[in-house]
Amino acid sequence: MSLLPILEYPHPRLRTVARPVDVDQLHDPAFQRLLDDMFETMYEAPGIGLAATQVDTHQRFMVIDVTEGREQPLAFINPVIRERSVDLRLHQEGCLSIPGVFADVTRPDGIVVEALDRHGKPFELRVDGLLATCVQHEVDHLDGKLFIDHLSALKRDRAIKKLDKLRKGRD
Ligand code: NI
Repeated sequence: MSLLPILEYPHPRLRTVARPVDVDQLHDPAFQRLLDDMFETMYEAPGIGLAATQVDTHQRFMVIDVTEGREQPLAFINPVIRERSVDLRLHQEGCLSIPGVFADVTRPDGIVVEALDRHGKPFELRVDGLLATCVQHEVDHLDGKLFIDHLSALKRDRAIKKLDKLRKGRD
């Protein structure tokens, strides 16, 4: 396995709308290896989710593990959010593509998501809380959206300034 480079804001390809995964691809060892590399990259970062878009692959799949013990790796192929609750949940989100920047985002608390697992088997999850937030954040990536898009212009400017400042410190 190997660590993958992650595209960082404002890389234009983070704005790509990903195309569906062709199910035949799931039998390709290279695709399975890419999924393993995405899990490794996410765990190493560390992060709780990583969308293919972030590793410059513009197809609809993503990996997630919100558990502290990293015991629940979930791969979503062609995920679709079927239902969203009226109840909302606020979470201080971050993103491996916008490192070091965190901001409150409000999203539906509960969702129903359908997807294929890494072997092409369909599944449906009815989830709420952190996992629901994370699924929505990652599906946004597949649509070319970032969590800062959900902020007011003022808060977004503040987040981008923070990112610039952190980058200057890094050089
Ligand atoms: Ni992200």
